[in-house]
Amino acid sequence: MNPTFKQRFRCLEFGVHFKESDRLNRFVEGLIELARIEAGEMQLRRHWSSVEEIITTALARAAPLTRQHQIHIDSEKDLPVIRVDSRAVSEVIYTLIDNAAKYAPGGTLIRISAQRADDVTLLFAVEDKGPGIPPPLRERVFDKFFRAISDGDTGGQRPAGTGMGLAIAKGIVEAHDGRIRVADATQGRGAHFEFTLPIGDDEAIETEQATMPVVPLEERVS
Ligand SMILES: Nc1ncnc2c1ncn2[C@@H]1O[C@H](COP(=O)(O)OP(=O)(O)OP(=O)(O)O)[C@@H](O)[C@H]1O
Ligand SMILES: [Mg+2]
Repeated sequence: MNPTFKQRFRCLEFGVHFKESDRLNRFVEGLIELARIEAGEMQLRRHWSSVEEIITTALARAAPLTRQHQIHIDSEKDLPVIRVDSRAVSEVIYTLIDNAAKYAPGGTLIRISAQRADDVTLLFAVEDKGPGIPPPLRERVFDKFFRAISDGDTGGQRPAGTGMGLAIAKGIVEAHDGRIRVADATQGRGAHFEFTLPIGDDEAIETEQATMPVVPLEERVS
């Protein structure tokens, strides 16, 4: 049976409400996350995680947003596992990909990379071929509710957003004792966001091993 016009209209209306309430939910979740960060009450669930898995999770979540872009992943081989809250770090990478997809035109390249910065630190980067961020605004884009693009810059078509994404990303990175910044793209125009994360310390490994339950040998082999 074909749905009547009224039924179809109801579905459409429901869809709009659903989208709106979804957006509202994300807005409220963002506010709560920011409030936690500001109160220094962000609770990290650190565990040893693979960099590849963290990036793959972020990319899978961002897939609906990046259909129009070319994605290039450039991770150094044999990166060590890192002791982080993998869900939170994935969220940082997702936020950077979300912005790259939102502010750089469709068809352009988004490059995601991870490498060793030194013996104890990893460096992650997300780079795009969009308008980039002018030097005077590079600190401020990490402030909560700050949005760099004014309505006039985009002919009135300013992409939707709340200005919370980068503030939350900064909070997550700093809670891990890392640093986040934005620079010029390595070649041509565009934004190059990068953040560092400590790999984790031996002390932490020892503590974790010490608290691991000791399973009797006979139980382990059965
Ligand atoms: N890759 C980028 N290229 C150009 N400008 C960017 C990029 N990423 C962020 N910006 C600028 O920085 C501002 C802050 O980014 P942020 O992610 O915090 O907020 P938002 O994208 O506006 O909203 P949302 O909270 O929904 O993410 C953006 O409004 C935009 O002006
Ligand atoms: Mg954003």
